[in-house]
Amino acid sequence: MLSRDDNELLCRIGPGTPMGNLMRQYWVPAALSSELPEPDGAPLRVRLLGEDLIAFRVSSGAVGLIQNSCPHRGASLFYGRNEAEGLRCVYHGWKFDVGGRCVDMPIEPAESNFKQKVRAVTYPCVERGGLIWTYLGPRPTPPPMPELEATMLADNRIQVYQRDCNWIQALEGDIDTGHTVYLHLGGVDASEVPPDSWARYALADRAPRYEVTDTDSGVMYGAYRPAEADTNYWRIANFLFPFYAMIPTGVLGLEVRVRAWVPMDDAHTLAFLITHGAPPPPRNAGRQAVAPPETLPNTTDWYGRFRCAADGTNDYLIDRKAQKTVSFTGIGSIHLQDQAVTESMGPVYDRTREHLGTSDAMVIRTRKRLLDAARALRDRGQIPPGVDDPRVYAVRSGGVVLRRGADWIEATQKLRTAWTEHPGLTRSVLGNIPAV
Ligand code: FES
Ligand SMILES: [Fe+2]
Repeated sequence: MLSRDDNELLCRIGPGTPMGNLMRQYWVPAALSSELPEPDGAPLRVRLLGEDLIAFRVSSGAVGLIQNSCPHRGASLFYGRNEAEGLRCVYHGWKFDVGGRCVDMPIEPAESNFKQKVRAVTYPCVERGGLIWTYLGPRPTPPPMPELEATMLADNRIQVYQRDCNWIQALEGDIDTGHTVYLHLGGVDASEVPPDSWARYALADRAPRYEVTDTDSGVMYGAYRPAEADTNYWRIANFLFPFYAMIPTGVLGLEVRVRAWVPMDDAHTLAFLITHGAPPPPRNAGRQAVAPPETLPNTTDWYGRFRCAADGTNDYLIDRKAQKTVSFTGIGSIHLQDQAVTESMGPVYDRTREHLGTSDAMVIRTRKRLLDAARALRDRGQIPPGVDDPRVYAVRSGGVVLRRGADWIEATQKLRTAWTEHPGLTRSVLGNIPAV
């Protein structure tokens, strides 16, 4: 349970808020590179950290991110002409480059120097790993970009989904391993999955014990339960400042992934799910739909990007018969199951009314780190974790079987380190079945 003040501090990310200011210390994934496929193509509406912005790719291929409202008299630059290295407002023809300079003001007298005095708000953009990143922070020279392995590999795979709820509400689902065996696997009995598989271990003991520890990049947990007679199955996952999660799915050492829960505003979040490497072969996953959910074609609306076809307006297409027979929820895919429960808490969940148990240790610790960091920045100007140290992001998550009594942190040191090869390690160590 949080106090009302702490809940507000945690959730509100608009301009000028402590948590918004914390996020603005970091580079932020704003869009897919493929959303701006060509130079001088159509601009893109991007709602980000409570701001309405317009992304555009200029003639040279560079990407700009500019305030929506034209500095002249406020027409939306979404309707602008993207031409010759700048975006020109269609109302009176003022034109801006990616740095926000006004490079043309055709309806002012030729001798006027007014255009030198006008500046639009723009944010620097960099493309990496199929993503357009931006820095909305206060520094004239942005900090280094985070060394997130999955975002540094050109042949990565990215899925994006919009979620109709607050960012931390969505993220908390990623750092709560306990729900896996209910929300996703609640209809599956341990006897239905192969022995020696992660699912057998997880389903045979649905109440894992947690260990939680602070890291240089955020918080890490290990959740464990018995595997074989003298071993435990550990699910190890990370929260990384300010809004990343590395979930415990799959085999530690082999999984290269990260999820960014990027706030559009207080009540809308874009999830970028970034992975690298072949997915496990599609075998029995305990009747679970591991396929991605159906998405609608993107529209140009502020909230028109990466929407799922099943959503709160159609009750996520819940199938009540299936809920009694083939799945715990009757909701069609793992991602949608997560989407349904987190959105169902309401747009900004009121944490003054919740009741946290021991299984919520990771959620509790992550909130505390975020709140402490937001306050330290607000009150003392203290730079939050990872901003100036990109290497702390070079970590991995996943599942592992360890001898009972082993020090899980020490024993997994190498497996948790990015850019590390593990010859001989295969997904068969956890049964080679699709991971959840
Ligand atoms: S409002 Fe944009 S040029 Fe006038
Ligand atoms: Fe989930």
